[in-house]
Amino acid sequence: MTILTNENELVKIREAGKILKDVFSLIKKKIKPGVSTLALDKAAEEKIKEVGAEPAFKGYRGYPATICASLNEVVVHGIPREDIVLTDGDILSVDIGVRKNGYFTDAARTYAVGIISSVARRLIEGTRYCLDEGIKRAVSGGRVSDISNAIQLAAKERNLKEVRMFVGHGVGRKLHESPEIPNWGEKGKGPVLREGLVLAIEPMINVGTRKVEIMSDGWTAVTTDGKLSAHFEDTIIVRPKKAEIIT
Ligand code: MF3
Ligand code: CO
Repeated sequence: MTILTNENELVKIREAGKILKDVFSLIKKKIKPGVSTLALDKAAEEKIKEVGAEPAFKGYRGYPATICASLNEVVVHGIPREDIVLTDGDILSVDIGVRKNGYFTDAARTYAVGIISSVARRLIEGTRYCLDEGIKRAVSGGRVSDISNAIQLAAKERNLKEVRMFVGHGVGRKLHESPEIPNWGEKGKGPVLREGLVLAIEPMINVGTRKVEIMSDGWTAVTTDGKLSAHFEDTIIVRPKKAEIIT
């Protein structure tokens, strides 16, 4: 667990958060029909290096790229490829981690490519809503599973399915730290949230089944029914009344 209370440390991790925000604004501009996910990866890597940071995913457990680019039925961990090219009507989840000054931040967004279906729109908005509801519970004195429960209820409210095979996590001095943050569960369980605790909260939400399988590349996670999936993630710092969102 990383608990940051010292102002110098906070300044550094906020800087790592700001870098991710800037990388996402760049990626957002580049998302258009005809663009390959490898081109997005290269743009993100270049930007991260330009500001003196490092991609946190590249080389992590052998992951080969800077971003995860997960198209349509891909839930997470889509590997960027030159032959995966965006088409009007697609949705693309982009997940990026960076390390700067010894601190890690991790975030994801799902983007529409051109004009998307109303189901896709409902999924993207619903997933964003799940993340917001989870973040609302990331306050001092609460418990980790209060976040989990809020995400589960938000998904249910929107008639969507939370993926249970992957979890959110502590972040800060490493990419993945304790505690694990499932996107479902009963509230009032798990570690108590202390002010300064750094968390990556990341609901992955499906339109159809919540079930996921991993493809033969060992990374790409897809919905077993081939229906759409979305992913939003922010790195936050637990505060007494309202979490500080740094990405
Ligand atoms: N945000 C994802 C996670 O926290 C991305 C990890 S991709 C990996 O699990 F390549 F770094 F594994
Ligand atoms: Co993460």
